[in-house]
Amino acid sequence: MEKSALQIARAAYQPKLPKALRGALKAVEGAPTQSVADQEEVKKLFPNTYGMPYLKFEPIEGKMQTAQMNVGVILSGGQAPGGHNVISGLFDGIKKLNPNNKLYGFLLGPGGLVDHKYMELTADIIDEYRNTGGFDIIGSGRTKLEKKEQFDKGLEILKQLDIKALVIIGGDDSNTNACVLAEYYKAINAGVQVIGCPKTIDGDLKNSEIEASFGFDTATKVYSEVIGNIMRDCNSAKKYWHFIKLMGRSASHVTLECALQTHPNVTLIGEEVEAKNQTLDDIVTYIAQVVADRANQGMNYGVALVPEGLIEFIPAIKKLISELNDMLAANQAEFDTVADDKKIDYVLSKLSAENAAIFKSLPIAVSRQLALERDPHGNVQVSLIETEQLLAEMVGKKLAQWKKEGKYNGKFATQHHFFGYEGRCAAPSNWDADYCYSLGFNASMLIASGKTGYMSSVKNTFKPVDEWVAGGIPITMMMNMEKRAGEMKPVIKKALVELDGAPYKFFVSKRDEWASKTSFVYPGPIQYFGPTEVCDRPTITLSLEHQK
Ligand code: FBP
Repeated sequence: MEKSALQIARAAYQPKLPKALRGALKAVEGAPTQSVADQEEVKKLFPNTYGMPYLKFEPIEGKMQTAQMNVGVILSGGQAPGGHNVISGLFDGIKKLNPNNKLYGFLLGPGGLVDHKYMELTADIIDEYRNTGGFDIIGSGRTKLEKKEQFDKGLEILKQLDIKALVIIGGDDSNTNACVLAEYYKAINAGVQVIGCPKTIDGDLKNSEIEASFGFDTATKVYSEVIGNIMRDCNSAKKYWHFIKLMGRSASHVTLECALQTHPNVTLIGEEVEAKNQTLDDIVTYIAQVVADRANQGMNYGVALVPEGLIEFIPAIKKLISELNDMLAANQAEFDTVADDKKIDYVLSKLSAENAAIFKSLPIAVSRQLALERDPHGNVQVSLIETEQLLAEMVGKKLAQWKKEGKYNGKFATQHHFFGYEGRCAAPSNWDADYCYSLGFNASMLIASGKTGYMSSVKNTFKPVDEWVAGGIPITMMMNMEKRAGEMKPVIKKALVELDGAPYKFFVSKRDEWASKTSFVYPGPIQYFGPTEVCDRPTITLSLEHQK
């Protein structure tokens, strides 16, 4: 593989580890845990892994050595910067425990475990990928691990390779699967531990114990750089409104963080839309008003940020999606036999009158996405819905109407952008490089401590690495019961933007000023070498959440 100059220089970077992980350590147990909701139901479903205590690693004198063991690793779901560092941290951790330990990577996601596709990750391979973006070392995939047959098939290869522990690096769905797998292997005494690692650029796998999912820091810095560049272009030409959709299929954390970094004129937050029970027309009116007010000041330009998951937060559309999910789950076999060009009619015939009316009112591209295209976890593939274009068109129509009524007299020319894939595989920032390496190294210590059903946790990450705290959180602690494909299932509770949280409140205190003035901030590209205030700063979200 030919390497860029940055890749070569960056390969030499040694990620920092929290103090507790630098030498021998002991696992100190904290209080037993409860799931975040639905305790009785979750407890019943996880009799072997429910209620385990929090764990914190503390340094001790001496040297850590374990008997020889093999470990497996899986990358699951969407790419996130730093995945390679989780794997290199895990590799270095198990080699430190015993140089004869081996690491196997399952290929192209959880499917690799079921289909017995794997490779041994040797030192030479690992060295090629240190501090690089991407998941290409072993690839990723979205196969859902949920059936007993898959677990048994997986166990065959784990036994064949003498693997004692499996590390699953993924988001909320994948870690939910990791938890189910841990429970099953413990119940049948399989002798395989399962450990999860919190990944997703979306930032929605976090809670009182997990401060951030890895990848969020780097991805939002990449998007903010490019938003800043667009803002500067916008402020130079002064002739376009730029509509920018940002990844984050459920929560609006990415959009909020990018807004905090760049100060756009319009920022939509899905969670607010839902709380205020807004309609699509309310949203369009709000944007059109900002455009009109700026036009009154002679500014026919601006930047609007739109979260990818917006559509699903609009209460009327959310209700429609929920009915669609139940209806499709109940009629899947029949639905699969319906010809493609008849599927929309089929859906319409099965919906309640209220939801059928909403479904019909949507642009055809949106209704097709809602009804027909789902990922293996049943999620609507919101990244394929062109909300930025849809909103720009609807705002244009509203302004044309206002013009006729004499309420508006500006110019409205638009550009559309979607930033998602541009940031998912970026070279990890120093923060992500250190965090990910620590998460992987820490996972090896959870394995050495005999734990299963835990998520690797590194906290205090808004402080210098020396003060980071390493340990483990039982995954069952993050669970609640939710409806999936028509059935109540135990799943990790997604973290949405909290409307009483400091990041959102700070944004609200500024947004009117950002709307009427041009207060753009240009963050520039991620810096890997240089002054610490430029290279090592965490996200504004993390800093505000932990500001005392
Ligand atoms: P994960 O939740 O698996 O981390 O993926 C997040 C994400 O980046 C979303 O923001 C986006 O909607 C989705 O992946 C797109 O995935 P794909 O490219 O597989 O359609």
